Amino acid sequence: MGLYNISYSAQFPVFCPPKTPPSNRKNDDHMNQNPSSTSLANINEKARTEAQRLIASQTRWSHPFRSRWEHTLRVLRWAERIQACEGGDWGVIWLAVLFHDCGWSETLDHALVGAELVEAFLRAEGVEPALVERVAWAVRTHNKRRDPAPDLPLENRIVMDADLLDELGITTLVWDAMATALEEQPGYRQALERDLAFFNHAKCKLEQLQTPTGVRLYQERLAFWEKCLSHLRYELGLADEFMG
Ligand SMILES: [Fe+2]
Ligand SMILES: [Fe+2]
Repeated sequence: MGLYNISYSAQFPVFCPPKTPPSNRKNDDHMNQNPSSTSLANINEKARTEAQRLIASQTRWSHPFRSRWEHTLRVLRWAERIQACEGGDWGVIWLAVLFHDCGWSETLDHALVGAELVEAFLRAEGVEPALVERVAWAVRTHNKRRDPAPDLPLENRIVMDADLLDELGITTLVWDAMATALEEQPGYRQALERDLAFFNHAKCKLEQLQTPTGVRLYQERLAFWEKCLSHLRYELGLADEFMG
């Protein structure tokens, strides 16, 4: 049992490595792994440019240190790691992740707005309707983690898990240090307390993961994060021991 009542720290399965390291693979290669995605390979660069443009045009508030485009790129990496273990149509996953946060509205669910935008883009590019719907569906459901439909395709579930895995673990420590620094009275203690609160919040989301690989990766982040928090408490003189 860890300092924060987590019992899984000692043993969790090791992440299964992809057959080909993700950094050596190109999106086109992924697209061509599945015949249904072949037509998507042709719009690779256009899609990337359009998603980046839509995200840049948003008025959605974010911390000054947080780039939604960089979040999108990191979610792609998480999706790649999950897909390497779980399978699924990479072309659909890639496009859905790319556009998952491209839409924003003060009054509507951003997932619905994003789904409409990606649908319009893919239709204009002449992508076959069935494929357009699969991508739009994955964008539409990416934030429905609390009440997922029972028949969600694997691609949708991978997008959901990849999104949840970003800004977790040590990234949150960095986030909370930066966010605290923007407050009136910044300090190590304030950053620690803020991150401890988020850690406890993040623990509760474990049950929202949709794939076995997503669960494993999330558990890994939680376990390492917990360890770092215990070391930080020790370094700040707030504890006499730390997790080994
Ligand atoms: Fe989102
Ligand atoms: Fe996101």
